[in-house]
Amino acid sequence: MLDERMKTLIREMPKGENHIHIEGSIPAKTALRLAKKNGITLPFTTEEGMTEYIKKNVVDLNSFMVCDRMINSVCIDEEDYYQVLYDLGKQAYDQNIIYQELHLDYPLNEVRGIPLDVVINGYEAGRKAVMRDFGVEIVFIAGIDRSLSSEQCVAFVRALEPYLDIIDGIGMDCEEKGNPCIKHVDSYRLAGEMGLFRTAHAGEDDGAYNIWDALLELGCQRIDHGLRAIDDPKLMDYLAENKILLAMCTRSNAFATHLTSLADHPIKRMMEHGIVCSISSDDPPYVGDLIQEYESVVEEIGFTEKDVIEVARNSLEYSIKGQHLLPRFDTWVANWLKEA
Ligand code: ADE
Ligand code: ZN
Repeated sequence: MLDERMKTLIREMPKGENHIHIEGSIPAKTALRLAKKNGITLPFTTEEGMTEYIKKNVVDLNSFMVCDRMINSVCIDEEDYYQVLYDLGKQAYDQNIIYQELHLDYPLNEVRGIPLDVVINGYEAGRKAVMRDFGVEIVFIAGIDRSLSSEQCVAFVRALEPYLDIIDGIGMDCEEKGNPCIKHVDSYRLAGEMGLFRTAHAGEDDGAYNIWDALLELGCQRIDHGLRAIDDPKLMDYLAENKILLAMCTRSNAFATHLTSLADHPIKRMMEHGIVCSISSDDPPYVGDLIQEYESVVEEIGFTEKDVIEVARNSLEYSIKGQHLLPRFDTWVANWLKEA
C-alpha cells in the first residue's frame, strides 16, 4: 500500500538505478534550452508541450525511437553533453539515487555527424561534476543501435578502445523486432575480448528466444527488460539458477509494449520464481522518474515493503561496480526497520 511510510521509504532509501538512457532522458527544460542555443526547431516550445507531444505521438517502441532521436538532436557540442549529464545527475541526487548505470547511446549522435570524443568527453566531464557536486556515482554502458548493420556496430565497439577507462559496459537497444540479438554476435565477442561488462535489451517487444541468444550466444551477464521470459518456463529456471539480473522498467514496458495494464506486468511472478530483478526508469520524460517507478510497482503491482527493499538492494548487489555501497544501504535499511 502506498501509505506515508512507503512513500518515505521510496524517497529516502539510497538507491541504485541500472537501466536509464542518457539520450532518452534529456529533461524538457534542458532540451528546450539547448534547442534555442543551437537553433534547432522542435515540434513543441514548452515543457508541457513536450509532454503533450509525447502523449500524442509515442505509442510503441518504434514511435518512441523516432521521438528519442528527434529530441536528442538538440545536442551538438561538448558543453551540451556536459549539461545533459549534469542535469540528470541533479535529478538523481534529488531522488536519493547514489549509483546510476547510464546507457550512452552514441550511435544516435553519430548519425548526425557528432564525433565520439565530443560526446564521451562531454559526458565524462558531467560525470565528474556530478560526483563532485552531488556524490552520485555514474557508470557508463555504451549502447549499440541494433538497427544498424553488424559491421557498423563492430566498428563502434572497436572505437571504444581509447575510452576503456571511462566506459565499463556494452549494451544494445533501439528497435528489437527485426533486429535479433544474434545479428550482433561479433560486436559482443569483441566487447568480451575488451573486458567490457555485457548486457542487452532482449524480450522487450520480441520473444524469449532473444533472451536465450543474449545469454548463450552474446555472453550477456545481465538482461535489460527480459519481460518475455515469462513465456518460457525453462528460461525462468535458468535466470533464477544463474542469478542473472533482469534490469526491468515496468512503466516503460506498459508504455512502449502492448501490456494492457501495469497490473499485468510479470515482475512479481518473476521475483517469486527466484529471479533477481531491479527496477529503473528507462527514459523519464516518457514514463516518469525512478520514484514514480517505485510508487507504481507498489500501487499497481502490489509490491510490499520487503519487495521494495529487495529490488533496491539488487540494484547495488548485481550492479557493475556499486557493491561497495552495500554497507551504506544495509545500515540505512537496518535503521529504517528498527524505527518500524
Ligand atoms: N532506447 C531507450 N529506451 C529504450 C527502450 N525502452 N527500448 C529500446 N531502446 C531504447
Ligand atoms: Zn532501455
